[in-house]
Amino acid sequence: GDTVIDLGSGAGNDCFVARHETGAEGKVIGIDFTPVMIEKARLNAEKMGYNNVEFREGDIDAMPVNDDVADVIVSNCVLNLVPNKKKVIAEIYRVLKPGGHFSISDIVLVGDLPEALKEDAEMYAGCVAGAIQKSEYLSLMEEKGFSNLKIQKEKPIAIPDDILEKYLSAEEVKAFNTGGTGIFSITVFAQKPGSKTKKVLASLSDVQEASDCDPKSGCC
Ligand SMILES: C[S@@+](CC[C@H](N)C(=O)[O-])C[C@H]1O[C@@H](n2cnc3c(N)ncnc32)[C@H](O)[C@@H]1O
Repeated sequence: GDTVIDLGSGAGNDCFVARHETGAEGKVIGIDFTPVMIEKARLNAEKMGYNNVEFREGDIDAMPVNDDVADVIVSNCVLNLVPNKKKVIAEIYRVLKPGGHFSISDIVLVGDLPEALKEDAEMYAGCVAGAIQKSEYLSLMEEKGFSNLKIQKEKPIAIPDDILEKYLSAEEVKAFNTGGTGIFSITVFAQKPGSKTKKVLASLSDVQEASDCDPKSGCC
């Protein structure tokens, strides 16, 4: 029954996993700024017969979604590609319901990558060169005001020597492999403060107020 938003939904795979969790009562929205991916995802949704999975074309740093809509936000390997991560995090905060949460998988760095790797387009496509420091990534989320921030999963990503050797000398490869610099795949969870329950109670008291109202009194 939840509303789930997937940031950078690609062909829609994670949206279909989310649809499995929400069931027919829920709603899943995938956002992607690449028209061909939106088209592909819509075709996939049609093939699967889902009418509650919607794909919207747009940039996740200015989401085509109203405030306080999502119970859950997910994303896999996308935030690292976005130049203005602070703006995306502000957008996540805006579209989440109070008490809603995100669970985002991404690539982050610990220590500095050698320049040759950072600047290479092939590495960028592999989600590495756009990644920022893990500490900065988590700080941006904390500064925005998210609560219960935790790392759900963390795994180092090893770059094979034969790839490193394309960009670095043998000495640099050795230094890279032993220098404590790391590329990590992490999954981060956090909540927007507030309570969904409060909202429900608020609307229940509205109902109560309405039922206390005598139509003959002229109040409604
Ligand atoms: C590495 S793919 C990941 C796709 C999908 N999340 C998955 O796990 O299969 C990155 C996707 O994010 C989209 N993307 C990258 N930057 C984006 C942005 N600023 N706004 C919206 N979509 C973006 C790309 O078009 C692409 O489809």
